Amino acid sequence: MSSVPAIIITIDGWSSCGKSTLAKQLARELSYTYIDSGAMYRAITLYFLRNHIDWTSPAEVTSALQHISLEFRANHKNGQTEMYLNGENVEYVIRDLVVAEKVSEVAAIREVREFAVAQQQMMGRQKGIVMDGRDIGTVVFPAAELKIFMTADKAIRVQRRFHELYEKNPNVTIDEVRANLELRDYIDSHREVSPLRKAADAIELDNSHIGIREQLELVKEWVKQRLG
Ligand code: DC
Repeated sequence: MSSVPAIIITIDGWSSCGKSTLAKQLARELSYTYIDSGAMYRAITLYFLRNHIDWTSPAEVTSALQHISLEFRANHKNGQTEMYLNGENVEYVIRDLVVAEKVSEVAAIREVREFAVAQQQMMGRQKGIVMDGRDIGTVVFPAAELKIFMTADKAIRVQRRFHELYEKNPNVTIDEVRANLELRDYIDSHREVSPLRKAADAIELDNSHIGIREQLELVKEWVKQRLG
């Protein structure tokens, strides 16, 4: 697709459904910017862990957030955008299980969400973005032109996440990965502030049994329809 008008595409859904894979492909096809909103919650979690912030204390959270600067920067070698926390590239370290174990707890905090959502909305001012997360179609961009809600069978999601983590750390076990995924699913969908749910006008995409290319072709059709 060449030179398409700028719209906002939101991709929400459960952990390890392949949201970022689809979002990156789509952004490349459309020459849009890809924004990984989960990376922001992960970077905030990393900051809290490193600085021993007691995130059960709203006052401590508010004060800590004032010292956090988040930025996405392009890596010109691989064409990907990477997360920077106070000027440090944390793209790799935020994918660690240590962060994954705590991120849902941190992402459930009202002050943290307000901090992240305000920045996400700024990034969408010019449109021409694909943003993935949990509340992008419901809270961040409720008027987005195309909203996708991704799901996949749990066993398949566990396998996908396991393979991803195993490459970095061969000591990780499938039981650990399953427990983390189940916990995150539970917290993400039961939290008080912006729980994970499908927006009424989102299209559901279950990719348990479809391949990455087939999925992209399907979504490109939806984009064409939205662009009229
Ligand atoms: O997409 P991810 O696995 O990198 O997300 C990390 C965590 O952040 C996940 O537990 C849910 C949370 N998250 C969120 O609450 N809202 C978003 N828009 C994106 C992620």
